[in-house]
Amino acid sequence: MFKKMYDRYFEIIEGFIMDLPWSEDTMGKSMRYSLVSGGKRIRPVLALAAAECVGGNIADVLPAAAALEFIHTYSLIHDDLPSMDNDDYRRGKLTNHKVFGEGFAVLAGDGLLTYAFEMLSSKMNFPAELQLTVLNEVAVAVGKVGMVGGQVLDLEGEGKELTLPEIENINKNKTGALLIVSTRLGAILAGGNEAQVDALTRYARAVGLAFQIKDDILDIEGNSEILGKTIGSDHKQGKTTYPALMGLEEAKEYLHTQTMKAKEALEIFGERGLFLTQLADYMENRQH
Ligand code: IPE
Ligand code: IPE
Ligand code: MG
Ligand code: MG
Ligand code: MG
Repeated sequence: MFKKMYDRYFEIIEGFIMDLPWSEDTMGKSMRYSLVSGGKRIRPVLALAAAECVGGNIADVLPAAAALEFIHTYSLIHDDLPSMDNDDYRRGKLTNHKVFGEGFAVLAGDGLLTYAFEMLSSKMNFPAELQLTVLNEVAVAVGKVGMVGGQVLDLEGEGKELTLPEIENINKNKTGALLIVSTRLGAILAGGNEAQVDALTRYARAVGLAFQIKDDILDIEGNSEILGKTIGSDHKQGKTTYPALMGLEEAKEYLHTQTMKAKEALEIFGERGLFLTQLADYMENRQH
């Protein structure tokens, strides 16, 4: 049941992305290279599932949901650059800069980020005011006080021994902010009421934390073939991660606690919250 629902969201997102008019020049190829295939599409899945959770229509939310994947993909291309995490593999393929060179990788990221905002600001089937609220929320979440800010702290923290509150702050921003706004975007556009949006926000906050804890664990005990990225990158780059700070076992317990917390937040939805509940479990147990 869960897999069927996940696959349904996944296919809808893939179809939308593939059908966009990608140009055949180097820039178009470079943007498309990193975007297509290999990603789990968690952020748009969260947006679509949150929309359905509050009784909305996912077709209307789809362009905005896809825009979140563009932003995420841009962040990965830049995250992998030699001046950042210096990684060679992403989504089972060579990283963008390894194929197209650093200049094009920077520009492909810029192009995807801008394309996302083009999409978010294009005419939608929602009241303009609601769309503007969401547009602004996304901009704040992925900017200097959100995702970019988290990446700054992550970079500054390399080679230093960070404390748990410092790591929490980094992750809340570099990973949590986009996951939270993805969930909220779906719920808000689909007309969720305040109690529903609040519950989904609490869910996404816990999921956001859990997601990075798991990402850190997979960097240690994952299988690079399945994961599609090189294992041990964090240690090599001198990152303080959850397992580095608290040990692998305690990090797993912490991951489990956050997953439980996420699921609890969905209680008000009853049956309608089932998919997101199972998605939290999927994210805890994922090998990819
Ligand atoms: C990896 O994100 C980077 C983090 C923010 C932890 P994902 O694990 O969602 O990567 P893809 O999109 O599936 O490749
Ligand atoms: C990436 O975190 C966060 C963003 C790209 C915003 P990581 O550096 O841990 O992600 P991976 O492990 O390279 O996918
Ligand atoms: Mg990084
Ligand atoms: Mg990285
Ligand atoms: Mg990582």
